[in-house]
Parts: sequence; structure tokens; C-alpha cells
Amino acid sequence: MKGAFLTSRVVRKGLQASTLQARQRSSLPEQAHQTASLVQGEPNYPVVATAIPGPKSQELMKDLNDIQAVGSVQFFVDYARSLGNYVADVDGNVLLDVYTQIASLPLGYNHPRLLRAAHSPEMTLASVNRPALGSFPDARWPQKLRSALMWLPRDMTNVQTMACGSCSNENAYKAMFIVYRNRQRGSEDLPPIEDQQSCMLNRAPGSPSLTVLSFEHAFHGRTLGSLTTTRSKPIHKVDIPALDWPVAPFPMYQYPLDQFAAENSAEDERCLQRAEEAIEEYNRAGKWVAGMVIEPIQAEGGDNHASPEFFQGLQKIARKHQMAFMIDEVQTGCGVTGKMWAHQWFGLDGPPDIVSFSKKMLTGGYYHTDKYRPNAPYRIYNTWMGDPAKVLQLEEVISVMKDDKLIENAADVGAHLMTGLNGIAERRPGLLSRIRGLGTFVAFDLPSGGQRDKLMAVLRSKGVVSGGCGDASIRMRPSLVFQRQHADIYLGALESALAELGGD
Ligand SMILES: Cc1ncc(COP(=O)(O)O)c(C=O)c1O
Repeated sequence: MKGAFLTSRVVRKGLQASTLQARQRSSLPEQAHQTASLVQGEPNYPVVATAIPGPKSQELMKDLNDIQAVGSVQFFVDYARSLGNYVADVDGNVLLDVYTQIASLPLGYNHPRLLRAAHSPEMTLASVNRPALGSFPDARWPQKLRSALMWLPRDMTNVQTMACGSCSNENAYKAMFIVYRNRQRGSEDLPPIEDQQSCMLNRAPGSPSLTVLSFEHAFHGRTLGSLTTTRSKPIHKVDIPALDWPVAPFPMYQYPLDQFAAENSAEDERCLQRAEEAIEEYNRAGKWVAGMVIEPIQAEGGDNHASPEFFQGLQKIARKHQMAFMIDEVQTGCGVTGKMWAHQWFGLDGPPDIVSFSKKMLTGGYYHTDKYRPNAPYRIYNTWMGDPAKVLQLEEVISVMKDDKLIENAADVGAHLMTGLNGIAERRPGLLSRIRGLGTFVAFDLPSGGQRDKLMAVLRSKGVVSGGCGDASIRMRPSLVFQRQHADIYLGALESALAELGGD
């Protein structure tokens, strides 16, 4: 406990100085909302003291480069001095972070309640005695799973934790295949000896020709099975062997949505029809489609949204073809869209069969209905199967989310952001387009990928860390403690960055 307060004091002390500097140096608007911050003591404004990456970051990059490729490193972080929505780097810059470790910080940096939880005796035990959960769980494990994971969604009856998003999806696909083969054989018994022998040679019938349908521009991870269902960018896939699995188009809507209702509804119809055709084609070829996987909003592939009717149509198709309907909520889950799970916006007729999660949930894993429970031990298994320390953290995150009404906050701030972005688009015609969002899961497009990249660089020089996606989009992925005053700072920085980009 003593340690927790020590850490908070260190964080606060570091930040007091930077907040002062921020007031002196920031060129950002002073009219930002000033409601009380959800993370006490966080700075009011970003501070930019050097080019980013600064000299110390560059030095460290050289050092790291001796042992590891550093092409994707943006800058080195001073985690002790980061707080709330602000990330501090090793060069003294303090930046408003609307990308938050690739959408994976639920409560920003150094949230006081997570610091306190980090020093609890049960966290110490969980940290130094990492169990093989599938075989040797702690006595409190069932209760911890219930309080951290089973409060929502109420209609999913089982949960399986995993280490990361990719391996959650990978294991969920295995669960689909097991159920599909049981149905084909008409038995839940262990597979016959012929199957057990042929699988050792990677041949049918033990290694069957089963497939998973995914969608153009999808991102479901980078391990071998999940990578086959990923279809966002060649750099993720090129040179890596892939399985011959079906693909269907994801709707590409015209914006603004209310002006293109008929065209977008026709686009839904086209994509649903192509999905069903792809399933029938693969089934006819004996490459049976055991399930489909889809993001509620395609993130990495360009923040593409689709209508509730489209998802309802997919669920019907999945039922008709007796295949699993799986929703990948790795990026959309944990309250950011204004509901705990983005698929809760879709008015589905019953729960999806499987819902995977990771990122802000801190642990990976997937929910599933009773049907997808494996019929024998070790069929879905690995050494760790998650991490109790992460589930303890998640338990505290959920408690803060309830106490501080953070899902409602995401809905409110998201609406505020959308209004602000639409205002900027009107004032600067031709620069921002396709402004879209649910909660704070907001994105917009620039006319080209080159302009998007330049805008992100200018934003960073103004003290804002943002992320790109798709060909020319910027995606906002703030944490759940992102409030209206942070949105105002972001919008002010964006407008002045666009002025630089547009040359006025
Ligand atoms: C929708 C989605 N699924 C799966 C993944 C893979 O998660 P991980 O990087 O934890 O393996 C990601 C990661 O960005 C994702 O956005």
C-alpha cells in the first residue's frame, strides 16, 4: 500500500512541473472545458519540449537497434511521469494520447485505483506465482472470473481467458471446428481411431477441410490461423502461408449516411448475398464453412461501420448454414462505443455464438454459448490460458467504470467529438470526410494517405499522439477517462494542424 502512494506521488511530482510549462508553452486553445478530471492531478495541456522522437529517444533507438528491429518504435515513454490521458516521453514531452497503446489502456496511465490494486497482497501473489490456469487455478478463480468478466454480456454463459487477441481468435476458431465436426459425425464422443491416426499426418479425415469466412479489410490477428482471416494490409500477410478460406465484402458506405440510405441498404444486400454465395461455394467444394468472424466496426482496416440490418442478416445466414457466428470485439469492446460491447447496438436476435476480447479488457479471451464448450480436456488448452494478475486488474477497471459511469462518459464525449469534427469539416471543406463514430470510437478520412500521415506528424508536433488506419483514415482510440476538455484540446490541435496542412 505504501508503495502505491509512493508511485502516485512520483507521478504527480513529475507532472506538476510539466503542467506549469504547458501553460507557458502551449499554443493550444484556452477555451477547453474544465470539468474535474477523472484522474486527479493530470496535466491540463500537452507540452512539447523537443522534436519527437527527441534526442534521448533517438539515442535509445540506436541502443535497441543493436538487438531488435526498431522500425515501428515512435518514441520511448517515461511511464512513471505519464498520467491519465497524458503520456510523457523520455525527452520531457507530455502528450495528449488519443491512441493509448493501440487502444489498449482502459483508464489511461497510472490510474490511482489501479496503482492501489497493484500493491494488494492478492496481486503480489498472482504476479509471482503465475499459474497454468487450465490445470492449477487458485481457489478464488471462479469468483474472480464472475466479478471481472461475467457481469456483461449476460446472455453469454461461458468465458475462456487467453493471453492476447490473436490467440483468443485462434482458439475460438478451434472451438468452432470441434463443434462442426461433432455435428457432421452426429456424435459428441471423441473422434474415431481413423481420425486420430490421420490427424498425425495432417490429413483428412482427422485434419478436415474446414474453413472460416472472414471479410475484406478485416483484422483478426497475426498468428497463422487468425492471419488467414486478416485481410487489411499486405504487410501483415505477405510471404506467410495462408489457408484457402472464403472471403466476402464488408459494406463500404457512402457518407453522410442520411443522404445515401438507399445506396447503403443496397450495399448491405450485395454484401450479404456475396457472403452466402461464398459459403455455398466452399460447402459445395467440401471445404465446409464452420463459422464466420467479423468485427462490429472494422478497426485496423479503416474504421468501417456496417448497419444493424447487415449484422442481423449475417446472423440469419450463419444459423441457416449451421455455422458459428463470431464477433471479434478485441478493439471495440469494454465500453468505448457507449455500450459495453459494440454488438449490443445491433439488436441481434439472440447472442452471437462467440465474442472475443482483449486490449482494454487487459486479458484476452472469448465468451461462448454452452454449445461451444470443448467435449474433452486439453482440446482448447495452453500453458497459461490467460493471467490472473490481469483479471484482478480488470476487476478494478470494471469497478471504476461503474463508479465513474465511464460507458456513459464515452457516449457523451463521443457525441461532443462528432459535433466538433463536423464543425471543422464545414469550416475546411475538402479536407475531412467520412466522419464516423460510435462513442469515442471515432474516425475520419483525409483526401490521401500521404496527407493523413503528414497530419499525424503535425498533430504530434502539437502534442497529440494519434493513430491511423485503412488507406487514409485517422482513428481515435482514447481511454475511457477521456473527457470533453480533452476532446476540446484535440479538436483545437486538429484545426490548427489542418490549417498548416491546408497552407493557410
Ligand atoms: C479486431 C482485432 N482482433 C484481433 C486483434 C489481435 O490482437 P493482438 O494484437 O492482441 O493479438 C486486434 C489487434 O489490433 C484487433 O484489432
